[in-house]
Parts: sequence; structure tokens; C-alpha cells
Amino acid sequence: MADQFTRRTFVRAAAAGAAALAWLPTRHAPAVLTSEAQKPALLGGTPVHDGGWPGWPDWREAWEPEVLEVLRSGVWSRASGGSQVADFEQAYAQLLGAKRCLATASGTTALITAMYVVGVDAGDEVITSPFTFIATYNTILMHKALPVLADTDPDTLTMDPATIESRITDRTRAIVPVHIYGMPCDMDPINAIAKKHKLAVVEDACQAWLAEYKGAKCGTLGDLGCFSFQNSKHIPSGEGGAVTGNSDELLDRCFAFHNCGRATGTFQGSGCFTRGTNFRMQHFQAAILRQQLEKLVTETELRQQNADYLTAGLREIPGIYPARLPGNSRAVWHLYAFRYDPAQFKGLSRDRFMDALRAEGIPCGGGYHEQYFDGLLDEAIASRGFQRLFPAQRLKQYRDSLQELKGNKLVCETTVGMFQNMLLTSRSDMDHIVEAVAKIHAHCESLAKLS
Ligand SMILES: Cc1ncc(COP(=O)(O)O)c(C=O)c1O
Repeated sequence: MADQFTRRTFVRAAAAGAAALAWLPTRHAPAVLTSEAQKPALLGGTPVHDGGWPGWPDWREAWEPEVLEVLRSGVWSRASGGSQVADFEQAYAQLLGAKRCLATASGTTALITAMYVVGVDAGDEVITSPFTFIATYNTILMHKALPVLADTDPDTLTMDPATIESRITDRTRAIVPVHIYGMPCDMDPINAIAKKHKLAVVEDACQAWLAEYKGAKCGTLGDLGCFSFQNSKHIPSGEGGAVTGNSDELLDRCFAFHNCGRATGTFQGSGCFTRGTNFRMQHFQAAILRQQLEKLVTETELRQQNADYLTAGLREIPGIYPARLPGNSRAVWHLYAFRYDPAQFKGLSRDRFMDALRAEGIPCGGGYHEQYFDGLLDEAIASRGFQRLFPAQRLKQYRDSLQELKGNKLVCETTVGMFQNMLLTSRSDMDHIVEAVAKIHAHCESLAKLS
């Protein structure tokens, strides 16, 4: 509590102007007390943070024997036997409080599988979030369905439920909310809309391992949930993914689809093969993943504690808006993101803001841009398949509607994000982040004038 008070006092004063810095208590702000250090590093001052940040991914020697055991067994695919993939599925489902989990080759293949199983088909429409990794768009397009973009709420950085219903047409089949950066979407209104219009809900939880909404884990809140275990993720295996859910029927169908369409469990299809693919996970991946679950739990708690502390500090700086989470939810912070208001930073551009932050030793990025104008969607809707499947008028109206994503445009232009590994450090490192942002605010006029 005393620490918090000291730091907040500092931040408020720093935000009020560099002159105030000399009066501050020194405990968390020693670097800013000399006049040279008060100056932003981009203007020749001393960086706030010079200690570096933890590398990622990170592994334990204790995991090696099991990986070696898989290697030496020669049984590398679940199609040849072995239990590592099934063991991981069981452990991950249990951790999430889901009835079932199916491990897949990636998050992309998990999403393709889940959408296939809930019935997304050629000529359908799927409502999703524009503020996401491009794989969310692509997996809808892979089904020759149209990704219809709901707007982003600038306060939460996730799908604004109030913008979904107006986008529903008689072709809409599913909603794919994205818990971006590990921040849960407001699922109650989303599920209510889905229920009212008889739509399926597939959660893109590819960045939201262990995130919670009203006491339940992301990935268990819709019909099916999808995860990624790609190299950069909180629980990585190079590549990998999972589909989770509580319905044996849906999960058996997912299993069949990902396993070349072979009949499985409650799903017997036509008796032998149905349409399917090979999206199977390898035992090597599963052995690494299962052994990481404990680490995932403890690191998630640490990220959450540091993110809460960081939010309390950043909130004190005028013009800085940490993301608001929907009531009674817990984010897991794949990125820690806030928005800044350029008007309260004398028009400082986001690029300059981020240059200044990086110069202080704080790595950061701008997150997703308005990628729907990049050509991917134009290319898709101009393709022979889409031209056959959708009336020209619908495709024109769809293209025009992308201009309406005002909330998302604001989010794309004013968000600054920091990476999950930075939250695996100490409170004093969080203080450095707050101090760096406060310094930028205090000197925004000079920074904005830099040529
Ligand atoms: C939101 C989101 N959706 C889907 C994916 C696709 O996952 P993968 O890269 O494992 O295929 C990712 C991965 O980065 C993601 O972040």
C-alpha cells in the first residue's frame, strides 16, 4: 500500500510537469531525479529501464526426458498409438473446466475445425472482430464464408456486442468473438444474441489460456473454443492448438474432422470416412505442452498481479486509458495494451510515442492495424468462388460497410501494447513502465516537435 502511494504520487506529479519531479519521494523514481534523467531518452536523457526483459519461450531441463522418450519410442503420431496427446487433452480440459479438449496442429486448424463442425459452409456469413490476428479472418474465408466485422469497443478493445445484431443477415451462421490479448469479450450479451438468432458461437481464445469471465474460463463460454500454442504464446509448443467444449457430440465431430474424417465415438457419419483433414497434433508437442501447465498457472498469476499494478499506475497519467475488462472477468495479458489520447499529448504521433517509450528501454508495438483495407478481403470477394456464392450487391454493401468501423479505427490508431514476457518481472520494472509513460507525457510538447 505504501509502495503504491509513493508510486502514484510520483506519477501524478510527473504528469503535471517535469519541474514537479524534483519534489518526489525517491523510492521508485531514482532515475528521474537528476535533470539529465528527467529528459526523455529520445531527447538525450537517461533511459528509465536498462535491465532488459525475460526472453521467450522459456523451458525447463526437467521436460527433456519425456521429449526424448517420445523420440526414442518411434511413436510420434497419435495415429500410431501412444498417449501423450490424449494425456495433454485431458489435463488441459481439466484445467479449463471443460468436458473435452481436442489437440490440433495449430490455432488456425482448431478454428477451421470448430467452424466446420458448427456448420459454417460456403456462402454463409460469420460475425467476428476486426481487431484480431489475421488467422481469424482467414479461417472464415477458408470455408468460403464472409467475415462480417462487428465494431471494436475502444474501452475494452474487444467486440462491441451492441454492433452485432445490425450485421446479422439470413446468411449468418455463427459469431466468433475474439478474446484479444487475453481479454475476455463480454460474452453474456454475445451469447444472448446468438441464442435469439440461433447462431453458433466459436470463441477465438487463441490468446486467452486461463482467462476468465464470470467464473468460467474462456474457451468454455460458447459452443466451442479455440486455442493456439504457437511459439510466442503463454503455453507454446512451436505450433499447436486445441478445440475445447462441453458437448461430446461436437467434440467427436471435431475429432473425426481433424482425423481425415474417420468415424469416432458418437459420430459415425456415413459409417467410415466423412469429409475431413489431417490436423493432428504430434506427441512431441503434447509432451512439451502437458509439462508446461503448472508453469502456465503460476506465470498467469504473476502476469495478472503485475498487470493490475501497472494499470493502477498508468491510470493516473492524463490521456492514458488502460483497457476496461467486462465485469467480473480476469484477463491473462498476451499483450498489455492501453490507449492514449493524442490531444492530451499535444498531438504527439503514436509512432513518436512508441519511439520515445522504446528509447526508455520499454519495448512496445502498435498492435493490429486496419487490415481489412490491406487487400485480403478485396481479393477474396473478387474471387470466382465468392462471386458465385454471393450476390454482387451484397459484396458491394459488405465492402462499403468496412468504412463504418469507427471504434476499431480509433483503437488501431491509438493503442500501444507491451509484450507478455515483460509482465513476468518485478513491480519495480512495472514502475519503470509507468515512469517512462509519465516522462513522455511531461515532455510531450518537445517530443511532438522533434523532426
Ligand atoms: C487471435 C488469434 N487467432 C488465431 C490464431 C492462429 O493460431 P496459430 O498461429 O496457432 O495458427 C492466433 C495466433 O496467433 C491468434 O492470435
